[in-house]
Amino acid sequence: MHIVFAASECVPYAKTGGLADVVGSLPAELAKLGHRVTVYLPRYRQVAKMIPNPPVALRSVTIPFAYYNRFAAILDGGVTHGVQHYFVDCPEMFDRENFYSTPSGDYGDNAERFGLFCRAVLEASKQLGVPDVFHVHDWQASMLTVLLRSTYFFDPVLRNVPSVLTIHNAGYQGWFPPDTMEKLLLPWDMFTMDKLEHFDTVNFLKGGIVYADAITTVSRKYAEEIQTPELGASLDGVLRDRSADLVGILNGVDYAEWNPATDHNIAAHYTAANLEGKQECRRDLLHAFGLDHIAAETPVIGLVSRFTSQKGFDLLSETIDKLALEDMVLIALGNGEQFYEDMMREMEARFPGKLRVMVKYDNVLAHKIEAGADLFLMPSRYEPCGLNQIYSLKYGTVPVVHATGGLDDTIDNWDMETNTGTGFKFRDYTPEALLDTTRWALDTFRSKEAWSALMQNGMAQDYSWKRPAEEYAALYERVVRQRS
Ligand code: ADP
Ligand code: GLC
Repeated sequence: MHIVFAASECVPYAKTGGLADVVGSLPAELAKLGHRVTVYLPRYRQVAKMIPNPPVALRSVTIPFAYYNRFAAILDGGVTHGVQHYFVDCPEMFDRENFYSTPSGDYGDNAERFGLFCRAVLEASKQLGVPDVFHVHDWQASMLTVLLRSTYFFDPVLRNVPSVLTIHNAGYQGWFPPDTMEKLLLPWDMFTMDKLEHFDTVNFLKGGIVYADAITTVSRKYAEEIQTPELGASLDGVLRDRSADLVGILNGVDYAEWNPATDHNIAAHYTAANLEGKQECRRDLLHAFGLDHIAAETPVIGLVSRFTSQKGFDLLSETIDKLALEDMVLIALGNGEQFYEDMMREMEARFPGKLRVMVKYDNVLAHKIEAGADLFLMPSRYEPCGLNQIYSLKYGTVPVVHATGGLDDTIDNWDMETNTGTGFKFRDYTPEALLDTTRWALDTFRSKEAWSALMQNGMAQDYSWKRPAEEYAALYERVVRQRS
């Protein structure tokens, strides 16, 4: 089967979060299963810097807008791990400092940028290889499914090609003003509540949900949660309407990238059988954060996160006074919204001996934290899947998480009676629950035996892509069958 992925992020080319890890690793696993996989990505400035002069696959595809055309080239990123990559090159759209936004807000023309991207993928596919199925990711690629079933409805080449939409985060939907319909040449009769219209805006993700042949999200729990008003981010009704075609497939992780036995970003290698190297990683991490003096008995809590409201920083700010009284240090890496960056810096200024923050995006440091910390904190308000806690398991770094979405699906609570469990989780999204559970984890750290069992339990978990890739392949086959 030939599967075309359309996405706005993909490791190693462009990454702000877990979407990039998924699009960087699931295709390779599908290729291993014998499928042909092609990934399309916008050619951001960062991609152009990485690969300055790739071969040109198509010199020009025409993308019509109201009153004018734009033209995109399709550049050949070559084949990596059996997967063909193409970059949609349209400098006036993608040759910018960032992918989606500047610190002062989203780019004003994101509807045109990602509308163009989706159309370019359809046009390019007609010439470079018509897939059996399109697999699109998040709102940025959702317009592809809409175009397929509207503007391209009569295209003899594409009309029977099904599409699968994966929702990595229902909190980001792509809301745009009504005149977007005209800008993108979409028929006005689609601007209705049962199609693209949403509170008098054009909602890209909603369009994807309405028109995709199947919808997946990245954990079973989150698939249930987004059908409720609490976590559906106003799309729960639309999602309930499509519940027969909605499934949760838990993400896998790429153990070639995230494995303490082989990770080239960390100070020393280690395995479940020989944990010696982890101490060296801890020393190296503490050094990087200027905390060389920390005693071996003091637990190190790590945190790597986008700094946004999703990730639980409100809870952290309400608990930090009490947490700072405990014997522990918290090491945080992240960036994102100004508000939360400032909040983290302020907390650090108040408790410099207890909390160290680096406000930046740094992949090497993210690996060092996974390896060098004793505990890993993810108090997310909601979490579709979450990859960091899965990486943590592999690194023997015990997760403390809010029991939501993929965090709930991947972490089992420690049980000292049976020596089972892989971490600590709290159900209520309250400062008290976070504090109690973190204290429970810190107490448990003091028992060498219990801690060793926890680490071993976590390191024995297998979240590789093999099973999820098979689930996706079965789903592709189903949608292809249904359309033919
Ligand atoms: P989300 O996609 O919601 O941000 P995930 O847990 O799925 O959450 O994935 C986050 C990914 O992004 C992980 O690979 C994590 O290591 C990485 N990451 C997040 N913030 C940073 C950062 N500041 N520096 C380096 N890597 C980061
Ligand atoms: C999103 C979610 C995260 C998930 C990732 C990859 O960014 O916030 O929970 O792990 O996508 O699917």
